[in-house]
Amino acid sequence: MNPTGDSTVPDAGGRQAGQAGAPEHTIPAPAEIRVRPGDPLAGELEIGGAKNSVLKLLAATTLAEGRFTLRRVPRIADVTTMIDLLQSFGCRAGFGGDDVLVVEVPERLQPHASYDLVSRMRASIAVLGPLLARCGEAMVALPGGDDFGSRPIDMHLSALERLGVDIEVSHGYVHARASVLKGEEVSLAWPSVGATENIMMAATAAEGRTVIDNAAREPEIADLAAFLNRMGAEVLGAGSPTITINGGGPLAPVDHAPVPDRIETAVFLAAVGIAGGEITLRGAQPGHLRMLCDKLGEMNLRTSTIKGGLWAMAPHRLRATEIVTLPYPGVATDYQPLLVAMLSLAEGVGLVTENVFANRFRYVGELVRMGADVRVEGRCAIVRGQERLSGAPVRATDIRAGAALVAAGLGAEGETIVRDTHHISRGHEDLVGKLQALGADVEWVPGA
Ligand code: EPU
Repeated sequence: MNPTGDSTVPDAGGRQAGQAGAPEHTIPAPAEIRVRPGDPLAGELEIGGAKNSVLKLLAATTLAEGRFTLRRVPRIADVTTMIDLLQSFGCRAGFGGDDVLVVEVPERLQPHASYDLVSRMRASIAVLGPLLARCGEAMVALPGGDDFGSRPIDMHLSALERLGVDIEVSHGYVHARASVLKGEEVSLAWPSVGATENIMMAATAAEGRTVIDNAAREPEIADLAAFLNRMGAEVLGAGSPTITINGGGPLAPVDHAPVPDRIETAVFLAAVGIAGGEITLRGAQPGHLRMLCDKLGEMNLRTSTIKGGLWAMAPHRLRATEIVTLPYPGVATDYQPLLVAMLSLAEGVGLVTENVFANRFRYVGELVRMGADVRVEGRCAIVRGQERLSGAPVRATDIRAGAALVAAGLGAEGETIVRDTHHISRGHEDLVGKLQALGADVEWVPGA
């Protein structure tokens, strides 16, 4: 029974947990997105909470028994997957209002994340650290590779071993067990977002002090630290390369609103860069987008911080520049497909170097089908800007590439049909509706 007296918590579709039927936000497959060029974009919209924060905050709820409230939660398929995962541990979780998600965590959890759920979403690995902290054991399916290549979790596992966790990997599962977690110094070879988060969450239950050196500095890391601190943890230095966690204190449920989604913000900046126009993105956090806005400035897209958000105005035509992706505060790898789409319509030759994921240019072939002139050599893409692209049927290859293809369609003559839109629905809440609100000629159409 929860404190409001309800014995159930509504699920992702506003239904009661356990009821059958598709969640509201699910677009019946195989729907496609049709994009046509139109007038310059104009108007304003609200940026939602960051997917990559919300998913980790939901994983972190397993650290304490009781009722959590998360606000500004996007209705996306990855959130539904995390809800399913929490329910499989024995939690009750679901939307109680438009964007308010309630999670009730029981006294005892079943710390087992099945392959069925983990294979739907790689971020499921974020439950490993908190389950270990709460239950002293966890069995989590190996996430395997994904849309942009092999994505190992070696840094997660070796860091947890340093904290005293026994790890065995067999039959496709990580079997982790720790009678006592012990604070330690952990040095990461690369500032991995996921490893930093797993260590932070596990370390809240460790005896003594854990120090993470070369930690990831993304805004979502600082958000998770704020969430944990609000729960009663002591996490210091998040947002810097050294994070200290003084573990062992009691944790309690909280009410929290995640940081705004900087990648969603970038999608609309790319859209206005390509379609032209002037837009306002309410709730966006310009402080999280500095490097991106600098790059967009080099491309002649003007952005300005306004009260409660970000304003942007496109030039007649974008100008090419060089882009290098890096961990935060560098230009995020997640912006890369959006930037390549913009460069493919810019004046001049752009050069993009991808430093985070070796295989994150898989979508380029789809952009080339639309007339883009992009040559990929190893980690670099050379992009010769065209006056116009030409609309074509294309396939979304991953969450961000899908959004980039939709944005590219705004600068393509004729009709662009984006297929495999389930990728887009995983991470972008109502992309079509939000673009329509800015006047874009975009709509869902039934699949072929
Ligand atoms: N890596 C390892 N070993 C590890 C962990 C990472 O080799 O143990 C490598 C990865 O293969 C990659 C690099 O380190 O080459 C960076 O990976 P990181 O761990 O930082 O990324 P992640 O936690 O798996 C998150 C986001 C990604 C985002 C990256 C980089 C979530 C759910 N995912 O992934 O977002 O691109 O950080 O910022 O937070 C997306 O939202 O579409 C997305 C892919």
